[in-house]
Amino acid sequence: KFDGLAETPPMGWNSWNEFGCNVDEDLIKETADAMVESGMKEAGYEYVNIDDCWHGERDEDGNITVDKEKFPSGMKALADYVHSKGLKLGIYSDAGYTTCAGYPGSRGYEYQDAQTYAEWGIDYLKYDWCDTEGLAAEGAYMTMRDALAAAGNPVVFSICEWGTAHPWEWADDVGHAWRISGDIYPCFDCEYKHEGGWSSWGVTKIIDMRKDQEIRQYSGPGHWNDYDMMEVGNGMKAGEDRAHFAMWAMLNSPLIAGNDIRDMSDQTRKILTNEEVIAVNQDPEGVEAWRYTVMDSTGVWVKPLADGDIAVAFLNRSQEDHEINFTWTNHVFGDPHFDYSFDFTETEYLVRDLWSGKNIGSTQKSTRFTVPGHDLNIYRLIKQ
Ligand code: DGJ
Repeated sequence: KFDGLAETPPMGWNSWNEFGCNVDEDLIKETADAMVESGMKEAGYEYVNIDDCWHGERDEDGNITVDKEKFPSGMKALADYVHSKGLKLGIYSDAGYTTCAGYPGSRGYEYQDAQTYAEWGIDYLKYDWCDTEGLAAEGAYMTMRDALAAAGNPVVFSICEWGTAHPWEWADDVGHAWRISGDIYPCFDCEYKHEGGWSSWGVTKIIDMRKDQEIRQYSGPGHWNDYDMMEVGNGMKAGEDRAHFAMWAMLNSPLIAGNDIRDMSDQTRKILTNEEVIAVNQDPEGVEAWRYTVMDSTGVWVKPLADGDIAVAFLNRSQEDHEINFTWTNHVFGDPHFDYSFDFTETEYLVRDLWSGKNIGSTQKSTRFTVPGHDLNIYRLIKQ
């Protein structure tokens, strides 16, 4: 990988999903505080990321400035504050002339903006794709990558191009993660149509956009498929939030919380800080899950782990509960792209339920369980 950052998927928080343009320094500071107090930092969340709408105008020398009403202390002081908590600060810009919300973009100012971010102490840049007419994505993102490198500060570079230019085919040494879809929406399987004629997408719609068998092979340490910031805690049912979170873990997506973590329910906090599910996402092998089969409404997803264990998820897309009696020894999990193959007649694994944290059996016997409607069961198969 080009710079050794993001060897496992980045973890953090971003303002957009819950707050949109309502960002200011109090929100960011309080979120950094909450990251520590809620146990999220302890669980691995590190980046506190400001999305669109922090910007003021460019000054007479072309330097980008902050909105002084929203960020009266300035970005450097905010970065110092976030760093003092042992966390990192992320910011947002756009490859075009203006951001999606109409603020100054970085087109023509890439090196100057990267320099400014380095002076502020920025650790993460999400780089959007609005107002980019006439620009080729690969070149535009390479320019900003090079600008960040020239500025000298290590910065996780998050490509937000929505998948149109197939970034997975060219971005493994350009950015640390690339969005593969349009924006997420806090629903399980809806398409939300905006007035402007564009759509945001529910959790399973985004999963389907990964074009199964096509893009997983491009994901790996330092360069991840990004299934968008999470909507856990933003209005879905508990089971739907669980399914969303665990699928993002299985798919090695960056785990960027998108809810108000200053004020979240215990249920939301428990999902977001489930250590064993996070360990699936942060596994050093960095292999994205594949969908092994579909049993009626339930997809069976498989992710090989570094220590020889296997994560297996059963995602039930229907509203009905699904009772399953899974006879492991009738199955061989063969990876369609890489050299992994798991034959349960040859090797025994203990079956550990990652929601309850309990071992519930062995792969030498059938495992009987229910996957509730719009929910997901996730197991770690522990090699014996
Ligand atoms: C489009 C991106 O996909 C979103 O995640 C968000 O960054 C908005 N732009 C901000 O305008």
